[in-house]
Amino acid sequence: MAEAAAHPIPVIAIDGPGAAGKGTICNRVASALGWTLLDSGALYRLVGLAALRKGVEPEDATALAELARGLDIEFLAGDEVVVLLDGQDVSREIRTEHAGLVASKVAAQSAVRSALIERQREFRRPPGLVADGRDMGSVVFPSSALKIFLTANVTERAQRRYKQLKDKGIDVSLSALSKDMVDRDRQDTDRSVAPLITCADARILDTTSMSIEEVVCKVLEWAKEVYPQGCA
Ligand code: C5P
Repeated sequence: MAEAAAHPIPVIAIDGPGAAGKGTICNRVASALGWTLLDSGALYRLVGLAALRKGVEPEDATALAELARGLDIEFLAGDEVVVLLDGQDVSREIRTEHAGLVASKVAAQSAVRSALIERQREFRRPPGLVADGRDMGSVVFPSSALKIFLTANVTERAQRRYKQLKDKGIDVSLSALSKDMVDRDRQDTDRSVAPLITCADARILDTTSMSIEEVVCKVLEWAKEVYPQGCA
């Protein structure tokens, strides 16, 4: 179903490759504005995890779409969002690089994407939504007046992800992580359905040499410029 063209609830659509800092930035921007947060990547990670648990192959589009439609999930807000699958805390399990690669595989199936699209749009609640993903501006919320493509060079992204995983106590090697990241970027960019692209009307923000605070400030500045009422 198409998105309403003149939707009254503002959306900041933030897309970009993995480990560009979208998760942290979106979380901070959403809490600064008091808006809802949509971590669309978590939905694909959850479909991937549910498929692994139920023994569904990443190529079985029909079974995957069925899984996606019936996902029993919950996001508990907080400094660190807690993600529940079938009532069980899977926040840590869905963050591994392996879970990211499986997510990227299931995300390439158009039936899975269609099954999740309305679910994602349900996050658009007053006073506004900050949406984090790969196709927020291009497919899910194309009417958004503020689309941002957040990126950073691959070395910087690999280092950020390495630190993030280490801080969570997840053991990884930097070189394996860089390779997985490049593979996943390629998979996301080359797929035929909803590939990772920079929308023509997106503002590009290269965060390679920016601090988190600088990026948050920039996004909030744009939000106030584009949605002066919603960000009062
Ligand atoms: O953002 P995150 O790394 O959690 O996303 C995991 C994977 O889910 C991505 O590599 C991508 O393949 C997929 N994804 C997607 N569309 C989105 C968000 C994530 O295809 N909107």
